[in-house]
Amino acid sequence: MSTQQTNNKKRILSGITPSGNSLHIGNYFGAVKPQLELQNDLTTDTHYFIADLHALTTVHDAAALEKNITGVVLDYLSLGLDPSNSVFFRQSQVMSHTQLAVVLANYVSFGQMKRMHAFKDKLQKNVGVESINMGLFNYPILMAADILIYKPFGVPVGEDQRQHIELARDIAENFNRTYKKDVFPLPEPLISKTIGKIIGTDGKRKMSKSLGNIIGIFEDEAVIRKQIMSCFTDPNRKKATDPGKVEGNPVFLYHDLLNDDLAEVADLKDRYTVGTVGDVEVKEKLFLAHQRMFAQARDRRRNLEQDLNQVKEILKNGADEAAKVADATMKEVYQVLGIENQLN
Ligand code: ADP
Ligand code: TRP
Repeated sequence: MSTQQTNNKKRILSGITPSGNSLHIGNYFGAVKPQLELQNDLTTDTHYFIADLHALTTVHDAAALEKNITGVVLDYLSLGLDPSNSVFFRQSQVMSHTQLAVVLANYVSFGQMKRMHAFKDKLQKNVGVESINMGLFNYPILMAADILIYKPFGVPVGEDQRQHIELARDIAENFNRTYKKDVFPLPEPLISKTIGKIIGTDGKRKMSKSLGNIIGIFEDEAVIRKQIMSCFTDPNRKKATDPGKVEGNPVFLYHDLLNDDLAEVADLKDRYTVGTVGDVEVKEKLFLAHQRMFAQARDRRRNLEQDLNQVKEILKNGADEAAKVADATMKEVYQVLGIENQLN
């Protein structure tokens, strides 16, 4: 039976890989904020998880993995994830994700997998194909399982994840066609056109922790200040009195995202264009805007850090809740495949 709803509410599903121990503003505006907005939408039923098994493609140290998971969980809760409104859990605590991944690998070809960005990006970094770990190569299959097992209506993510959602749709279609049953409804990618891809502080590539071109959220103030101060601006502007370009200038893009003082932003843009404000002032104001925007979340995080048992409990309850939907799908899948086991 195919359904994209719980209690007449559209099911929404997304995950985040804890490959580092904290989120940056690219993650926040591109993924987390839209996810949290959906959580507060009365017509949706949101499921969000920490994709800890995905982190194994790069993190091979148990203590580091645990630190990353705790960090990202605390970030999410501090930024506004409300466990009474969203099902929030760890991927590895819901066993059927991996069960479905093993099944789905049979409905996708090697050719399709070779075209996946995560794999191709690795190749471009001159890593020999022979040494790429199969977890990384297979990662989009596990991600397809993460998604399809919840039969979601939509998956809110940043632009860089679009290809993976398309693959999940292809796998779902192939599976449904093969068994002539509408087991998996096709999930919609929910990607913001304007903020699906936030540029990094290098002004060139997307903001990404692996590229080191980020502005953090929860780091010490001195770190955030340094990240903002070293941000790329208009390369053709040598002095504060030179007219500068606002459009495409990352500092102003960040102002538009972070600064709640719209009059200040308009004034800075005007003065920048004619050459009556220096980069330092523009950045200093950006730093202050960052502080205003995240002050509450930073406070909340400090409090939550004192109560990690409560956090564990939230994740455990979330996993129990998620498993209800996931296990029902897995039972249905085994039935369709012709496999009998404890689930059916
Ligand atoms: P990173 O590239 O820093 O490792 P992840 O790949 O872990 O980030 O991404 C986590 C989530 O944040 C994904 O949904 C991704 O699409 C989104 N995201 C990451 N970087 C950006 C960005 N620069 N702009 C918009 N969204 C982003
Ligand atoms: N690949 C996503 C990222 O890098 C994380 C992820 C794993 C995910 N499984 C998912 C996102 C399922 C949405 C749905 O951030």
